[in-house]
Amino acid sequence: MSLSNKPGMILSIILIVLLYSSTSFARNPCVPKDFNKGGTVCVCNSTYCDTIEPADKVAAGKFLIYSSSIDGLRLEKSVGNFSNSTIPSGVKFTVNRNRTFQKVFGFGTAFTDSAGLNLLKLNNTEAQDALLKSYFSSEGIELNFGRVPIGGCDFSTRTYTYDDSENDTSLSNFNLTSEDFEYKIPIIKRAQEISGKPLKLVASAWSAPPWMKTNNDFSGFGFLHEEFFATWAKYHIMFLDEYKNNDLKFWGLTTGNEPLNGIIPINRFNSLGWSPQAHRDWIANNLGPQLRNSQHNATKLIALDDQRFLLPWWIELVFQNEDAKSYIDGIGVHWYWDTLYPAQSLTRTHLKYPEKFILGTEACVGDKPWEKEKVMLGSWARGEMYTRDIIEDLNHWVTGWIDWNFALDKTGGPNWASNFVDSAIIVDEENQEFYKQPMFYALGHFSKFIHEGSKRVHLGRQKGPSALQAVAFLRPDQAMVVVVFNGKGLDVPFILADPKRGTIRFTAAKHSVHTLVYW
Ligand SMILES: *[C@@H]1O[C@H](CO)[C@@H](O)[C@H](O)[C@H]1NC(C)=O
Ligand SMILES: *[C@@H]1O[C@H](CO)[C@@H](O)[C@H](O)[C@H]1NC(C)=O
Ligand SMILES: *[C@@H]1O[C@H](CO)[C@@H](O)[C@H](O)[C@H]1NC(C)=O
Ligand SMILES: *[C@@H]1O[C@H](CO)[C@@H](O)[C@H](O)[C@H]1NC(C)=O
Ligand SMILES: *[C@@H]1O[C@H](CO)[C@@H](O)[C@H](O)[C@H]1NC(C)=O
Ligand SMILES: *[C@@H]1O[C@H](CO)[C@@H](O)[C@H](O)[C@H]1NC(C)=O
Ligand SMILES: *[C@@H]1O[C@H](CO)[C@@H](O)[C@H](O)[C@H]1NC(C)=O
Ligand SMILES: *[C@@H]1O[C@H](CO)[C@@H](O)[C@H](O)[C@H]1NC(C)=O
Repeated sequence: MSLSNKPGMILSIILIVLLYSSTSFARNPCVPKDFNKGGTVCVCNSTYCDTIEPADKVAAGKFLIYSSSIDGLRLEKSVGNFSNSTIPSGVKFTVNRNRTFQKVFGFGTAFTDSAGLNLLKLNNTEAQDALLKSYFSSEGIELNFGRVPIGGCDFSTRTYTYDDSENDTSLSNFNLTSEDFEYKIPIIKRAQEISGKPLKLVASAWSAPPWMKTNNDFSGFGFLHEEFFATWAKYHIMFLDEYKNNDLKFWGLTTGNEPLNGIIPINRFNSLGWSPQAHRDWIANNLGPQLRNSQHNATKLIALDDQRFLLPWWIELVFQNEDAKSYIDGIGVHWYWDTLYPAQSLTRTHLKYPEKFILGTEACVGDKPWEKEKVMLGSWARGEMYTRDIIEDLNHWVTGWIDWNFALDKTGGPNWASNFVDSAIIVDEENQEFYKQPMFYALGHFSKFIHEGSKRVHLGRQKGPSALQAVAFLRPDQAMVVVVFNGKGLDVPFILADPKRGTIRFTAAKHSVHTLVYW
């Protein structure tokens, strides 16, 4: 080879390397696996995990579309062109930028003891990082919320609180536990590092120490003794103090997980029962004042933290007390009976108390006694349950949606109370790999694109009563994001018209979900 050819050869090597890396950085495709549960998971391990192509800005006249489907697409990106053709076809949605609704806080998952424990069952850092990157990084679904149990919950391997010394009314033995130092604090910190920004953390307590309770137990029918109202509020502040000493600051605090569960204990796991009246008094006289007089005074106080069907009556009773009402910033709702109760109760609650935000604080599939298979690896139907509920919530004033355990094992645990459920990511310890389920991508269709501060805009529907569900947001960077969901077993063509930009025509294949983004 002559000397003069050398630079050319070097250049082509550089070009090959550049091309190779740009394609490999563009996307790691899903490695699908079918467990015959009506869909596929994507398999990840210490050396490989699927990633999502970045949603970089496209020129006016073009739009991005990310698609997932029962046929195996998983947030697959493509680019399309607007047109202004008026040929009618299919369902038509029209964006009306003049009618705007709630602002979004974001989307997230929960840092339970069990989730942390499952993450650490992946025996090398690369696999663990791949899991956390899937949730929190720019090549993943970019979650910005994390719910953290205060002490133990059912997704722990034992029952405990931070002060199990009987009659310790001064809380002199209050202390974080090994679970905090192994499964929660370090993992939240890794997630934040991977995310590149602090997560919005929301804390919730399940049970008070049994000695504070009428039934002297972690679970079942039991309430707080009135003499411990102040102590139980102080316990919350001490938790926030301890986490702050470990450099973790909370954005929100709920007034307690599922108070109804301590009144009607269908499932026996850590709970504290409250009537709305007693809860109101405790918030007005103890938790509210103690929180606002603490260094955590900016923490959002989130009431209810229980099923949607309790709205609005539960919160009406709580808000009868003006002090309780003034301390409360928002209302947390769980999804567990949503299919039986109309979302109109969310709108009614919003219209009555427009200054209080509504936030989805917990959701998972497999909790029902008749759901015999707790984990259904790859179930597209379960992914659709997430998609349908998130769209419905967002169309009824909900400002964000937080999933339950970020990872469980193949049995849907561990769970000391055998309350096993499904999870967006399942860790297979034996094979040292993890499975990203359709539920994971369902959440991603919203979380990755609808950034914090996005405002919902009105979507008018001209044709087709219910073939497709959709929701639209205008982002702070002026991108429009529209999620369109086809839960039916047939392809549905649709038109999205934005008077400011033109028309998008697209066919939503059977059982598919799409996120459109344009500027
Ligand atoms: C990880 O998954 C990739 C893609 O499926 C596979 O090629 C590789 O062998 C796996 N690595 C290990 C350590 O199992
Ligand atoms: C969009 O328009 C460009 C020309 O501006 C064309 O090259 C491209 O093929 C079009 N894409 C589609 C999906 O029609
Ligand atoms: C939206 O508001 C703008 C400016 O106020 C107005 O020109 C336009 O006609 C309105 N569009 C609709 C669809 O109401
Ligand atoms: C990790 O797990 C795999 C599969 O169980 C095993 O082969 C390997 O030795 C383990 N590595 C470490 C460092 O424990
Ligand atoms: C704790 O207080 C209760 C009620 O006053 C009492 O019955 C019980 O004996 C006390 N337990 C201990 C260990 O002091
Ligand atoms: C609290 O827990 C930490 C970590 O487990 C331990 O080092 C410390 O001694 C405990 N403090 C008390 C008062 O029990
Ligand atoms: C809130 O707490 C901070 C210290 O963390 C303090 O500087 C501020 O004055 C407090 N604000 C209110 C309204 O109490
Ligand atoms: C469609 O019409 C709008 C409004 O007249 C215009 O701003 C836009 O550029 C048109 N888009 C295309 C793709 O022709």
